[in-house]
Amino acid sequence: MNSLKAAEEIKASFSISRMDLRKIRVRFQDQIHSTLMGKPASLKSLPSFLSPATGQERGEFLAVDFGGSNLRVSLVSLLGEGRHMIRKEISRPLKDPALTYDYTTAATSGPELFNFAASLVYEVYAALPVQSLGLTFSYPMEQKNVNNAYLLRWTKEMKPRDTIGKSIYEMFTAALARQGLEKLMLKAIINDTVACFLAASYQCPHVVAGSICGTGHNTCYRERSLRTSDNLPMIVNLEAGNFSDVPVNYYDQQLDSHSDDPGQQQLEKMVSGKYLGELMRLVLLDLINRGIISAPADDCLTRPYALGSEILGWLQSGQPGLNIVPGHNSGQLLPWLSQLDYSLLRTISTAIVSRASQLMASTFLAIMDQVRYLLNPTIAVDGSVFLYMPGMISAIESFIRSESAADHPQLFMTANGSSIGAAVAAASVRNEIF
Ligand code: GLC
Repeated sequence: MNSLKAAEEIKASFSISRMDLRKIRVRFQDQIHSTLMGKPASLKSLPSFLSPATGQERGEFLAVDFGGSNLRVSLVSLLGEGRHMIRKEISRPLKDPALTYDYTTAATSGPELFNFAASLVYEVYAALPVQSLGLTFSYPMEQKNVNNAYLLRWTKEMKPRDTIGKSIYEMFTAALARQGLEKLMLKAIINDTVACFLAASYQCPHVVAGSICGTGHNTCYRERSLRTSDNLPMIVNLEAGNFSDVPVNYYDQQLDSHSDDPGQQQLEKMVSGKYLGELMRLVLLDLINRGIISAPADDCLTRPYALGSEILGWLQSGQPGLNIVPGHNSGQLLPWLSQLDYSLLRTISTAIVSRASQLMASTFLAIMDQVRYLLNPTIAVDGSVFLYMPGMISAIESFIRSESAADHPQLFMTANGSSIGAAVAAASVRNEIF
């Protein structure tokens, strides 16, 4: 088979017809309905016990962002009227690139993982002591209250042991106590989509949903049939990355079967930063095995997840050597390829990114169908894929425009949403619940 024909065939396997995308939109909304009625579905409706921010939240808060790749602790001042200031911030990867430590594997216990988080809190607290803390925890958890939640399972290839089913409040406050920080009040534990929603609604009253596309992917929205204790609409976490009613191809199946959680997180495995580079690596290996493009001299492609998602941005930019994501120079990654190989891979990478944008846009449209009664709907978005993948946001916007007659939702970029949102959540919790 010639290389052009192979590229066309692979590109076609990453394309989903308009009709099928419309079916996905309908099925996503059907699943929202099912989960609200307590019926089984690949989506969940996990209540956050929080309603949209008012913009008037004020005070000083420690904010912990427990993300898919990094742990970040910030001291956030909320000044009211949607304004904030980050007064101090430290961040560490969960896995040291120089491999001196790795908190992502089953070799790490729950106490070790939370001790790591608490030691970073200690560093910020020692410089600027503030008593109230908000935690953004970017994994599926069942919330019992605004400040207590139980870990349902890990996603994004994380696997610290003896943690599933345990109280995040208890694990974290025990680790804080081991650092001598028992007086800190952990006021809120929220998902990162909820943090993104809160950070955006702190500045803009029209936010109806919050979505992350970084290491993982997920969306939350404002559901009027579920109410907070103040009888306000509840922000609900859908764990949208687990949506399974999507057509998968050969590369998706391969990726899934080699992942830590086969059969889970299907939508996430097609759209998020943890997996887009892996899809590209599987395509590359296939093209090499079929003799369509040349093989590297070493085994740089044999390790799963050897390619980061920035490779797709870099291929699409058409400018080898360009830094697409700050700190990542993928220009060195595929030095053995010819210009012809590059243009073939560029076509495929555009198809992978375009599929991701259309899938996410279809789920956003389903959420718009669910909150149809709200005016000027705005979807808050955050995460490295939304922020840095060239063309991703404009592709989502143009798909949404092409599919909705009027009142298109606006996308609102919320950089730093996890920290600001954790502070807003802590500020909006009244003291008397403790
Ligand atoms: C994964 C997690 C989810 C989180 C998302 C984005 O899908 O399960 O809770 O919101 O990643 O970080």
